[in-house]
Amino acid sequence: MSLKLSVIGTGYLGATHAACMASMGFEVIGVDVDQMKIDLLAQGRVPFYEPDLEELLTEQIKSGRLTFTTDFKAIKDCDVHFICVGTPQVKGGNAADLTYVDAALEQIASIVKAGSLVVGKSTVPVGTASRLRTRLIQVNPDVDLAWNPEFLREGFAVEDTLRPNRLVVGTTSDKAEATLKQVYAKNLADATPWVRADLPTAELVKVAANSFLATKISFINAMAEICEAAGGDVTVLAKAIGYDPRIGNRFLQAGIGFGGGCLPKDIRAFMARAEELGAQQALEFLKEIDSINLRARQRIIELVRKDLTDDLTGKKVAILGAAFKPDSDDVRDSPALDIAAQIQAAGAVVTVHDPKAIANAQKRFPALNFAQEIEKTLQDAEIVLHLTEWKIYRELDPTKMKSLVKNPIMIDGRNALDRTAWRNAGWKFRALGVSEELEKK
Ligand code: UDX
Repeated sequence: MSLKLSVIGTGYLGATHAACMASMGFEVIGVDVDQMKIDLLAQGRVPFYEPDLEELLTEQIKSGRLTFTTDFKAIKDCDVHFICVGTPQVKGGNAADLTYVDAALEQIASIVKAGSLVVGKSTVPVGTASRLRTRLIQVNPDVDLAWNPEFLREGFAVEDTLRPNRLVVGTTSDKAEATLKQVYAKNLADATPWVRADLPTAELVKVAANSFLATKISFINAMAEICEAAGGDVTVLAKAIGYDPRIGNRFLQAGIGFGGGCLPKDIRAFMARAEELGAQQALEFLKEIDSINLRARQRIIELVRKDLTDDLTGKKVAILGAAFKPDSDDVRDSPALDIAAQIQAAGAVVTVHDPKAIANAQKRFPALNFAQEIEKTLQDAEIVLHLTEWKIYRELDPTKMKSLVKNPIMIDGRNALDRTAWRNAGWKFRALGVSEELEKK
């Protein structure tokens, strides 16, 4: 008999997980306390931009397998309950805010049927799963709790959920593992690696993976600083070290660094948790990873000052990109938007373009100017900053763009544009991690 699943929390992670599980043939109920979100999802509409998700959602709702509700009692017959609520950074601190996770557990604990399994997917500080399990069993002794962290990337959420590169299951019970093997039977048939772990290790895998990725990005951005100082080119350096399969070439793109709803808050929450555990020394290096990352934002502002004048007052600056990365409308801790706001605060007249993230960016920084067209953004600009590497920016015609601006100065904050093409079209082209001497050649 096919399992019936519930997904608690229908944000980025939950909405994607619910739609993907339904597409694997399960009956799925998505539950959230946010009526507006549920109404939208029930109509097959996704409240954020994620390639392929809306199509999948619509298809699964039509199939009858996927429903959404704010009524928690609706999940009482489900066999497996996935907790997918957010764990943002607490206000005024580095730790993770567990309010939503705790509330979700309290809300479902007495509703779920005997023999069912609660599965946490949210990113939580190590120790949370065990605490939640104790509480769950206290309320409802015939249920169990496992932890199954999620590694999906925004922009590839559907692909990563349907075809994850590994499945990690934290549990001490063979029965819970067997249930999750039933849920992920299709992935197992595709030979997706399956890692069984205890609860703390499963929780740690997620933050360890994100810390490693953040470290890789900050490492290459540290090399970018050295290249600038020593007369080198970080893009060539990254390519060369990346050929070593032990290093690999992914996540070595130097630029304005990482942002988004995961990497920055996860490394901070990890440090906060390590401190609670008395193991802060082990994660001291993450402080440096964080500051290298934030420094990249300042370095690009210094470049702007060098190429304009120290006084930015009244200078027209065009910014290409507001999202924290391409193929997303997410502006949470977006380096691009942070830089735009800082330049504006220094007195410049900033106009920002983004193919998808303008609405979200506007909510966060209403004082910035936004333009729907690239041409309008670049009109009379005294400097152009490329800050989110959307494909449409790589496809721009530098000659045509030159005819729009006042000064043809391009600063590539993502090392993603074709420098030769821009330079050949008469642009002064600067990039992070490439020394000024090299740029002049
Ligand atoms: C990340 C993890 O990749 C994912 O596994 C986890 O589940 C959630 O957090 P995501 O936040 O979607 O996913 O973004 P990711 O693709 O990891 O990029 C994070 C940031 O790093 C972006 O701002 C991106 O622009 C930046 N980045 C990435 C770089 O600056 N250089 C790189 O080489 C790669």
